[in-house]
Parts: sequence; structure tokens; C-alpha cells
Amino acid sequence: MFLPRNQRHTFTPLPSRRNLLSATETDAKAREPTRIKNRCESMARTIILVFMSLCEWTDLLDPRPRAEAEACPISRGANIPLAELPKRMHELPAKGNVVKVCDLGVLAGDTVMLLEERGHRCAIVPFEYEYGFQSPQRHSGGDEKALDGVMWRSVATMPRYRLWEPNSFLMSVVREVRPGDAIDLGCGSGRDAVALADQGWQVTAVDILPDALDKGKDLLRRYAPASVGKVRWQACDIALFDAPAESADLVVCNLFFDPRATEIAASALRPGGLFVCETFTETHRREHNSPQEKRVVSREALERHPSLTIAHWSEGWSSDRHLARIVARKL
Ligand SMILES: C[S@@+](CC[C@H](N)C(=O)[O-])C[C@H]1O[C@@H](n2cnc3c(N)ncnc32)[C@H](O)[C@@H]1O
Repeated sequence: MFLPRNQRHTFTPLPSRRNLLSATETDAKAREPTRIKNRCESMARTIILVFMSLCEWTDLLDPRPRAEAEACPISRGANIPLAELPKRMHELPAKGNVVKVCDLGVLAGDTVMLLEERGHRCAIVPFEYEYGFQSPQRHSGGDEKALDGVMWRSVATMPRYRLWEPNSFLMSVVREVRPGDAIDLGCGSGRDAVALADQGWQVTAVDILPDALDKGKDLLRRYAPASVGKVRWQACDIALFDAPAESADLVVCNLFFDPRATEIAASALRPGGLFVCETFTETHRREHNSPQEKRVVSREALERHPSLTIAHWSEGWSSDRHLARIVARKL
């Protein structure tokens, strides 16, 4: 270790034999808070694990090779083989949420190591094999609603469980809306575009990064293969993106914002169409010094817009993000 010049060559004298005992006692006292902290942490971990194993609705990561996973499925196991995981990180929960990895011994350990290296929080959890498993149809009984109403689980050829989630605010808004034409601005790896297409929307998904769109296409193929034709992926800077006037019923802009998004919504939406965002606020920018000023949404600017009216606006912290949830309607 490199030490500053004035600290080099200074040695702490070894304690004498008589002092050794008191030094050990002092050490023990000094270590006490750490020991209590460690014990609390371990108790908290145990409580979380017990809680998570009780959460039947949360799916588990099954990192076994595909053939093995298909031959002997794990109850609520979403199979992403460890060898494929580096290329399929977009199928995981958003960072900050715990990835629950099935306790498969060394394989689970290797999986956790890889995920933690890439900034994911993980827990190794107990699991059960599916009792009497025969086929996906048998499992769902052919009834889409039997699987939590998550329709993309009903197609026999696709994964029955998934670890990623579309934006929950967006999903709560569109639940009440008849599917039509949607534009997803800054769509990233396509979680919202895929979920919308699966619910019957025709989606134009726009992102500046072609790599992100490739991941979106992959997500669509795997989780909503019947809807592959429903998404048009467009690699484009939002500054250059144009949509025909009054051609959309929904414009989405999640975890990304640009004043141009408001202009696209104002022009592309049909009367009554919705502009839905969950995005960063000025409060977030002040706290984290990011994103840039023009990337945060302003309520005043939206209120002043002549062709949009705010139907919903709420703000709050969600873990370390301060986000605004907005629904604006085209007049
Ligand atoms: C944090 S991600 C959000 C992705 C997605 N909306 C979601 O909620 O999962 C922001 C996305 O905006 C895209 N983006 C950034 N600047 C952009 C621009 N000028 N035009 C289009 N997309 C842009 C990024 O490439 C990135 O995929």
C-alpha cells in the first residue's frame, strides 16, 4: 500500500505479554458493534429470504441448460441458461430488484457471481420441481386468465415465466384503454413495446441505440412471438423522428425525456389520445446532477402546451429515483 511520506517507516510497538490480554479485550470491545451489525444483517437477509420464498408470484431464475430445464421444470422457474446470461441480461428485473436464483449448488454460485459483477443484487432461494409437469397447456389449463392474466404466458412455445417487468404505471393506464397505435420513445430494450404489442397495440418503438433495439426484438421473439409483426423498430434520434399527424392513440416516454417528446405527442396523437410518461424530475436532477436539464420534465411547460391537457400528475421517490408519473390528453 502506498503511504504518504510522513507516515512511512513508523511502526506501532508490539504489545508486551502483560498488555496482550488487555489489548485482546479492547479488540473484542471494538469488534462488538461490527458483530452486532453482522448479526442484524444476517437476520435481515434471512427475513428477506423467507419473505421471498413465500412470495409465490415472484418468478425464479433457473440457470440450467435448456434441455435440462425443459425435461424437469422448476416451479415458477424462468430458464435463462448461465452460458446465455451475458447476452440475455435484458430479461432480468431492473437493477435494484433482487434476482432470485434457484439454489442449484455450484451453478447458483456461479450465476450469482456473474450477476453481481454486473451490478445486480441476488439471493439464492430454495425451489421446488413442478409436480406432475407434462406440458405448458396442462399447466395453464389452456386458460390465459389462470396465469395471472399475463397473456404472453399462454403461448405453448414461449417461456412461461419471466423476470422482467413492463412499466407498472403505463400498464395501469392502458388497462382501461382499447388497443390502437402506440409510439414508444426511447424504448430501450423494449419492455413496454413488447408488453403493449402483446396486448394488441401496433407499436412504433424508437431508440437512438441499434443495440437496444436488437434486445427488444429478441424480447419480442421470446416472450410474444405471436406479436412479432406488431412492432416496428426504428433506430433514430428523437430529434429527427417524425410521425404522421394524428396517427397514434398513445405516446409513451419512460425513464427518458426530451421536449421533443411533447411535440411528437402533440402532433402524432389523435384527439383524446394519451401521452404517458414516468420520468425524471428537477428534484432528481438536483440530487444526482443527472440527467441534463433538458432531459427532465417540467409541469409548467406541459401546462402551457396549447394542445395537451394534464389528466394526471404525481411525483415521488422510488428507491433512489425521483420520478413524475404523467398522463396528458390530446385536445
Ligand atoms: C433509461 S432508458 C429507458 C428505456 C425504456 N423506456 C424503459 O423504460 O425501459 C433510456 C433510453 O433512451 C434512449 N435515448 C437516449 N437519447 C435518445 C435520443 N436522443 N433519441 C432516442 N432515444 C434516446 C437510450 O438509448 C435508452 O435506451
